[in-house]
Amino acid sequence: MKNTVSTLLKQKQSGDKITMLTAYDYTTAKIIDECGVNAILIGDSLGMVMLGYENTLPVTMEDMIHHTAAVSRGAENAFIVADMPFMSYQVSVQDAVVNAGRLIKEGGANAVKLEGGAEVCDRIRAIVNASIPVVAHLGLTPQSVNAFGGFKVQGKSLDKAKKLIEDAMKIQEAGACAVVLEGIPAKLADIITKKLFIPTIGIGAGNGCDGQVLVYQDMLGLTTGHTAKFVKRFAEVGAVMRQGISDYISETKSGVFPSEEHTYAVDDDVINELMKEC
Ligand code: KIV
Repeated sequence: MKNTVSTLLKQKQSGDKITMLTAYDYTTAKIIDECGVNAILIGDSLGMVMLGYENTLPVTMEDMIHHTAAVSRGAENAFIVADMPFMSYQVSVQDAVVNAGRLIKEGGANAVKLEGGAEVCDRIRAIVNASIPVVAHLGLTPQSVNAFGGFKVQGKSLDKAKKLIEDAMKIQEAGACAVVLEGIPAKLADIITKKLFIPTIGIGAGNGCDGQVLVYQDMLGLTTGHTAKFVKRFAEVGAVMRQGISDYISETKSGVFPSEEHTYAVDDDVINELMKEC
């Protein structure tokens, strides 16, 4: 069954937790979709995990459309959400609507996601008026990394917590169909989740949210180096890949691969005739 804005809303109402994972390519999207995940996010995190940038800021509309289209071809039932990259919606309402439209028309997404609270409500309203569902994103919004002075947990002081609650109410009023809450205290996420009728999807926001989202490379153990506290590694796929690639190298060098099993045969008569001619 195809997941939609209505099925996600019903999940919140019935207490059935929403599962969302990132994907950036056809093959991974197909696997994630076949496992029954409710929603796939083509996050601008692709700048970091797929393209090797230090943060999400260099990601372009062309990058997002290219990867969104690949995911759309691989996913049948998941609700597909595409991130609006940095500077694709900040400058004007018109830019926001045009770029959101491109992610739907050219990328095949079902919804777009953009970061921010009160300051982006006019964008949310305009995109929703164009019949495009919008997922909002509050808290540790990575496109504001320079303004925050690093990737830091948000909403810890009374003022900041109150501002996040106000922002959540405003984006809902502007027409957002869901909101990602990233890097905020679990108890604050709990309060926001209870106040909103739209679903909250948490990442580093505790288990009181209506759903969870993770970057698939993080949760499958493909990333190395520093991992955020909120990341649980559900598998060690990186280790499995390293083992497989090492085996390929040693079997190729020793001649064990390719064996007969992986080789095409031909009639001896053909070879004998060929040999006569050579
Ligand atoms: O870009 C992304 O992957 C995201 C998630 C971390 C929510 O925005």
